[in-house]
Amino acid sequence: MKKIGVLGSGAVGKVLADGFLKHGYEVMLGSREPAKLAAWQAAAPGRGSAGTFADAARFGEIVVLAVKGTGAEEVVRLIGPDALSGKTVIDATNPIADAPPVNGILRLFTTQDESLMERLQRLAPVARFVKAFSSVGNSLMVNPQLAGGPPTMFICGNDAAAKADVKGILDQFGWGSEDMGGVEAARAIEPLCILWCIPGFRQNRWRHAFKLLE
Ligand SMILES: NC(=O)c1ccc[n+]([C@@H]2O[C@H](COP(=O)([O-])OP(=O)(O)OC[C@H]3O[C@@H](n4cnc5c(N)ncnc54)[C@H](OP(=O)(O)O)[C@@H]3O)[C@@H](O)[C@H]2O)c1
Repeated sequence: MKKIGVLGSGAVGKVLADGFLKHGYEVMLGSREPAKLAAWQAAAPGRGSAGTFADAARFGEIVVLAVKGTGAEEVVRLIGPDALSGKTVIDATNPIADAPPVNGILRLFTTQDESLMERLQRLAPVARFVKAFSSVGNSLMVNPQLAGGPPTMFICGNDAAAKADVKGILDQFGWGSEDMGGVEAARAIEPLCILWCIPGFRQNRWRHAFKLLE
């Protein structure tokens, strides 16, 4: 599958869109205000197209959800859950609350018993959500070059074929992947963003990634 609809005009949406373009995919980047993507499109020839969130969801054979966590459910409602019917949806969102971090510790608006991806999966049962890219900073999402070698992306979701799609993409993007199981494993994966950010907030260290060693 070569057509990717990326929902999100922030750093993550743009970095992942460029990653997919680099690896030969066709990309449409989506925003509530597509006009704001003109500069992104103009900055490099052959860059993907831009549209609304609904346009990008329709365009993608695979869809990437890269919107602010507090707006993620709203975006799924906006496009209409059926727009995601049968599609692999790579969910890069984190449920970060609007409150500022305390001593470098981000706050989430979810609980340990319910992740954001479970809420999204309930809202759009026809979609095949896979959590990925949520536990690393955007500058390392595509083919990270780290002294410790390829890091590990923890993924989860209810659909095995969708997870196989994402594993294939992660292979291309220079990541090992570890399947942590069904959608509820997002309760463990999403909070990794808190841990990942601590060295950044406390010591301005932002170039690291997790690796599972055995
Ligand atoms: N930044 C990172 O390095 C990083 C790393 C891992 C995971 N993440 C996660 O990835 C997601 C995207 O992060 P980001 O840093 O690229 O940008 P962001 O500022 O968190 O998200 C920007 C996108 O969210 C949309 N948005 C914001 N509020 C909205 C609302 N109320 N309703 C609907 N849409 C709304 C914006 O829509 P418009 O286009 O219409 O403005 C824009 O497309 C977040 O969930 C974040 O936690 C970020």
